[in-house]
Amino acid sequence: MSPRPIIAPSILAADFARLGEEVRAVQAAGADWLHIDVMDGHFVPNITLGPDIVRALKPHATIPMDVHLMIAPVDPFLEAFVEAGADIVSVHPESGPHLNRTLKRIRQLGARAGVVFNPSTSPSVIEWMMDEVDLILVMSINPGFGGQSFMHSQLAKIETLRRMIDASGRDIVLEVDGGVTAETARLCVDAGATALVAGTAVFRGGPQAYAANIAALRG
Ligand code: DX5
Ligand code: ZN
Repeated sequence: MSPRPIIAPSILAADFARLGEEVRAVQAAGADWLHIDVMDGHFVPNITLGPDIVRALKPHATIPMDVHLMIAPVDPFLEAFVEAGADIVSVHPESGPHLNRTLKRIRQLGARAGVVFNPSTSPSVIEWMMDEVDLILVMSINPGFGGQSFMHSQLAKIETLRRMIDASGRDIVLEVDGGVTAETARLCVDAGATALVAGTAVFRGGPQAYAANIAALRG
């Protein structure tokens, strides 16, 4: 029996003109974390939001803010996001030259540190870093946009990372992001995921549908 996964709605799929209300609505609908996708138009081919929006949302958020940084270089902005209220800060290894230093810095600033795997990134990146990481995020799409289809090729990577986490004996969250639907959520949890990010699958249908959408992801 798999434990109940953490559900982290990605506000990328929310109504950007009503973000505070959207945050309150997904919380009321049962969201566990709030996933915030930060893009710079350079590391990924899209631009979204920065620390000022995270700060503006903080008073609305009663659940942890899970900030996914898709920016390069990433190091100069860590402090701004933690100060703005990020509880978890996740970075791509490709977004800076010293992953170990970056993860240590995130913890030093007082947040939990996450590493994100692009579809092409090998699990070995984390092999010598298991003590420095609180969360591992497997992308099941290429980062940059919501609404893409789940890449089934990443299920084997989730299984590999699950084994690495279990062998470490550490309490590391294994999160999946991209194309997560009620159907693919099951596959991720069966492969060993403990947290699921979903944008489209949570926000479709508007606020009256959020509770049912989140329940469907929990299975
Ligand atoms: C993409 C983001 C995802 C995205 C997921 O780069 O990291 O969090 O919002 O959107 P869906 O759930 O629509 O695939
Ligand atoms: Zn994300």
